[in-house]
Amino acid sequence: MSVAFFANAAYIVAALLFILSLAGLSHHESSRTGLRFGMVGMAIALLATLWLTVGNLWGQANATLGIVILVVAVVIGAAIGLWRAKVVEMTGMPELIALLHSFVGLAAVLIGWNGALSTEEIAPELVGIHHAEVFIGVFIGAVTFTGSIVAFLKLSARISSKPLMLPGKNALNIGALVAFVLLTAWYVITPELGLLIAVTALALLLGWHLVASIGGGDMPVVVSMLNSYSGWAAAAAGFLLNNDLLIVTGALVGSSGAYLSYIMCRAMNRSFISVIAGGFGIEKPSAKGEEEEGEYRETDAASVAELLASADTVVITPGYGMAVAQAQYPVAELAHQLRAKGVNVRFGIHPVAGRLPGHMNVLLAEAKVPYDIVLEMDEVNDDFAETAVVLVIGANDTCNPAAAEDPSSPIAGMPVLRVWEADNVIVFKRSMASGYAGVQNPLFFRDNAAMLFGDAKERVEDIIKAL
Ligand code: TAP
Repeated sequence: MSVAFFANAAYIVAALLFILSLAGLSHHESSRTGLRFGMVGMAIALLATLWLTVGNLWGQANATLGIVILVVAVVIGAAIGLWRAKVVEMTGMPELIALLHSFVGLAAVLIGWNGALSTEEIAPELVGIHHAEVFIGVFIGAVTFTGSIVAFLKLSARISSKPLMLPGKNALNIGALVAFVLLTAWYVITPELGLLIAVTALALLLGWHLVASIGGGDMPVVVSMLNSYSGWAAAAAGFLLNNDLLIVTGALVGSSGAYLSYIMCRAMNRSFISVIAGGFGIEKPSAKGEEEEGEYRETDAASVAELLASADTVVITPGYGMAVAQAQYPVAELAHQLRAKGVNVRFGIHPVAGRLPGHMNVLLAEAKVPYDIVLEMDEVNDDFAETAVVLVIGANDTCNPAAAEDPSSPIAGMPVLRVWEADNVIVFKRSMASGYAGVQNPLFFRDNAAMLFGDAKERVEDIIKAL
């Protein structure tokens, strides 16, 4: 039996492991096992590809050089990957993921170009399909490449997260899509290099424009949408390379990313089509936003400890600031101590709290908070009215009443944690600055709210001492 036979068998095993991995990742309890399946699947896929490539090169001119280049590339890539994964902060994950998506996009562009320039014989009846595969692969890859780079720059605050509002931006996007369809038909009939250059440039510009047009509040959806694009780019590359595993894996990533984007759009009350079309139909946010709105009340750790000691129900709603402060361990300890005193303590998690899906769940699991007291927004929202104290720890946009009450707010319509319905709300943050969406939060000025300024970790530790 040939090397290709064994490699294909290994690919099927790897594809099955990837499916098991996705299934495992959909629940807290099984997520670690899911990750292990994914890691083993990827190791098998890599080894099989290496083996297959070495088998193909064997006996050809310059085989040794080819193998050395392959091994050196894998070693360098693995070393950089390991190093980045070790040093990245949890809060820096979205931008790292965006950067990794850009590599998938770039790889799809290069594979497409390689397919176009390759002198390999193609059966006459498949030539048209081959040209279409090249064109579509390059297009999706280039959109993913520049789109992911803009997402990386926005998420890492290297450029402003404000949406770019070019005049006639929707017409530009639609025009680019129509041009792509026409160019594809033209290229299938006459595969000229100029057309490939044109579609590459068009797709690079479109990817840039699509993501640049999206505002900070919609960036989570964009990251998951780019994840989906990178999957389709990989699947397109799989067709060109005749690699079944790439097709299966690409389709898994593409469809799960698209579904995740859809779920997140629903969670933020955004139109899925509008976000994937680069903010299609989203009006320019009003200038209203960052100014302060009246008087706020300041409190201190000792008063909060007193309030908590006399409370019967407490809900903690964490946000990005808890991740920045690494406050999850003292927060878990505080919850533990209050529960030991008989207080009903629960956590309310907004679907886009933090900077990536599931960010808060991961941090709380890390700090060993029991899963059964960590509730989704929909599970806890109706309970706020009967809650004595809500601790808003480093969260802002996700509990902004303007989203529910002010139709002119840039985040109007986004479902939020209705923390303001509780008897008392304590907001942990360092200043009166706005959150990620750049919108002021009227919650801070409500009569039942008080601000506890300072680093969230230090303030929670102060409360534990005072308790
Ligand atoms: P944000 O609205 O960004 O608010 C975080 C708050 O934490 C800020 O107001 C900040 O105020 C405070 N903070 C920062 N460091 C702190 C520290 N060391 N100690 C105490 N407080 C600190 O966060 P959120 O409520 O979690 O909302 C998430 C936002 O991010 C949404 O707009 C969402 O759309 C966006 N987003 C989400 C994702 C995903 S998928 N979840 C991805 C990208 C973007 P100070 O500066 O005054 O301290």
